[in-house]
Amino acid sequence: TIKSISSLEILDSRGNPTVRTYVELNNGIRSVASVPSGASTGKNEANELRDGGKRYGGKGVQKAVDNVNNHIAKVLIGKNVNDQKDIDYSMIELDGTDNKSKLGANAILGVSMAVAKAAAQSSGLPLYQYLGGVNSVRIPVPCMNILNGGEHADNSVDFQEFMLVPHGAPSFKEGLRYVAETFHVLKGVLKKKGLATSVGDEGGFAPNCESNEAAIELIIDAIEKTGYKPGIDLSIAIDSAANSFSPNLDDNYDLSWSGLGKMKTADLLEKSAEWIDKYPIILWEDPVSEGDWDGYVSFTKRFGDKIEVVGDDNFVTNTKYIKKGIELGACNSALIKLNQIGTVTETIEAVRMCREAGWRYFLSHRSGETEDTFLADFAVAMDGGHLKTGSACRGERIAKYNRLLEIENELRGRSEYRWK
Ligand code: PGA
Ligand code: ZN
Repeated sequence: TIKSISSLEILDSRGNPTVRTYVELNNGIRSVASVPSGASTGKNEANELRDGGKRYGGKGVQKAVDNVNNHIAKVLIGKNVNDQKDIDYSMIELDGTDNKSKLGANAILGVSMAVAKAAAQSSGLPLYQYLGGVNSVRIPVPCMNILNGGEHADNSVDFQEFMLVPHGAPSFKEGLRYVAETFHVLKGVLKKKGLATSVGDEGGFAPNCESNEAAIELIIDAIEKTGYKPGIDLSIAIDSAANSFSPNLDDNYDLSWSGLGKMKTADLLEKSAEWIDKYPIILWEDPVSEGDWDGYVSFTKRFGDKIEVVGDDNFVTNTKYIKKGIELGACNSALIKLNQIGTVTETIEAVRMCREAGWRYFLSHRSGETEDTFLADFAVAMDGGHLKTGSACRGERIAKYNRLLEIENELRGRSEYRWK
């Protein structure tokens, strides 16, 4: 049973405050979990409670910490730590709002994650087996974000993320090597062209490319120079995060940054078709803005047989919106981020909904992260087959990759690795 719960204000990878939570059980077990934070957020994400005022530019989380220490703890102390669902729904009830704005999703999620970790320890199981069962053996393909634009970098690339997908590798360990090697070669390719090799929030390079196409060509050049075959060993995944170039979150897009100018959904689809034809693109996330549901439907109708079409800002890991997407045929996959919805239980429910609809689901970190590796275990437990957790640098990203190496190693010959 839960003996105590307490939180602390710590810093995330961008130097902004976030919540760290400790759970202690009567048997002496103690766990700790830290909550991530996004920059290109969907409108309907669960509320991240920030203090406002002058401290940390308004981004302090003392209220959220106080909500854990003085409100959530009182309700949960004495509860059975194995009853994740009961614990999560008790917090949802205590909050009482639709978007967790009273207690803060950052307050609630930290507790939810720390409870799962304590329960796993108590059961003597690694977290991935506690959450996913003893047959959780599939290690996700690491979709490594090696070139950053949009809200994650101050450059002239509209699309937020260009990811390398090592689907042709025989194991996670080898896949990680493919992408890390290519990351280093890309650095050389950029240097040679006189482009910046500084990195964005998720550790990808953030050069001032003249266009989105130029960014893709640089990546393909790097793949080939490393000695891999584009489309066979490594393919490309894109997260447009189209919200960031759709000022009203509708079907009007402004790609003047990279020289494409203003366009409607139909033109954007034509451009996408050109790229999907020309380049080894395997997955495309948020190709249109979160308000452009028709755009998602058209995109999926046109490209859904060929590539994975992922919804992030439109679904926000919320079964209410994923259900709508399934009914409409908008996307064939959903991005899954624990802090978009705010509890472990609801995140699992979102995954289950995707699975039942025959959709894929793509596990994800946030651009503001901590050294917590919960996501790595969670991705294995959910059997999703692929995850994104940044580039081959920045400790908060590498921590998750290293945890996955550890899990693969621990499973010896039992682990599985495949794109589909
Ligand atoms: P975020 O970006 O964490 O800044 O929201 C990630 C994404 O859009 O997938
Ligand atoms: Zn996204």
